[in-house]
Amino acid sequence: MKVKNMLDLTNTTSCRRLEGQVAIVTGGAGGIGKETARRLFAEGAQVAIFDAFSDAVESAIAELARDGIDAMGLTVDIADPDKVARAVKSVSDECGGIDILACCAGVRPLGTLFETSMEDWKLSLDVNLTGVFLCAREVGRHMAEQQSGSIIVIASVNALRGVATQVAYCASKAGAVGLTQVLATELGPFGVRVNAIAPAQVETPMIAEQVGEVRKKREERIPMRRYGKPEEIAGAVAFLASEDAGFVNGHVLCVDGGYTTYGIHP
Ligand SMILES: NC(=O)c1ccc[n+]([C@@H]2O[C@H](COP(=O)([O-])OP(=O)(O)OC[C@H]3O[C@@H](n4cnc5c(N)ncnc54)[C@H](O)[C@@H]3O)[C@@H](O)[C@H]2O)c1
Repeated sequence: MKVKNMLDLTNTTSCRRLEGQVAIVTGGAGGIGKETARRLFAEGAQVAIFDAFSDAVESAIAELARDGIDAMGLTVDIADPDKVARAVKSVSDECGGIDILACCAGVRPLGTLFETSMEDWKLSLDVNLTGVFLCAREVGRHMAEQQSGSIIVIASVNALRGVATQVAYCASKAGAVGLTQVLATELGPFGVRVNAIAPAQVETPMIAEQVGEVRKKREERIPMRRYGKPEEIAGAVAFLASEDAGFVNGHVLCVDGGYTTYGIHP
């Protein structure tokens, strides 16, 4: 199926809903994170990316710079409370506040119940759940104080469905959805909105191993019969960050080509 080309928003001034805002994008050197950084910048935000590996951060910042995007890059393990606190403070000090947190960092060790090691279980929970908790806790303090902000958690359709061989991943993403809901309740009174996005398969390095028959089988499970593009997730992040979503709080937005509504196709 032919997919329409994505809009190139980099040089347009027609859709700048985030003018003057400051955004942190975790996992900003990854597939969805980098596109999110691009999109938030295109809509007028100052962007800082956090990622775990310094070489990945450097090459992402260089790639964004080649496209005219001036982003800050910080090497941060989001599962480390002290590093998160220091990095968030440095962005806030440098930029004078934080308005948007897009939690895109993630890991996906595979394994059934009997195959999943303690190491993989812990890694999944540390990054996909504790990492979101730590970033939201630090950024949420600034947002609550300034009485505004938007936190967007990239969860997964696998938070809502039991996918065999993804025991640790599904559990960690379901936890991230639960966390989103409680944070929406706690931070809502401060004018801070917290929402999650549940993507189905998106073409990024995370699922690069899905090729040939493996990919075909997964595409058949998606009513739109294709994988998503990182830009399509970034567009949903920008919507949730913007005032267009000013009364959207505690929501899980499926960006999945219809995956979660799939019933039967006789
Ligand atoms: N690609 C998909 O099909 C898909 C589907 C549903 C949900 N997601 C979720 O979307 C998010 C983005 O995934 P992606 O597809 O861009 O994958 P990706 O592997 O391209 O990017 C993930 C990024 O997270 C970073 N990261 C990992 N551990 C970290 C840590 N401890 N601290 C800081 N950064 C860390 C990685 O270095 C990488 O740059 C993830 O949370 C993923 O679970 C992806």
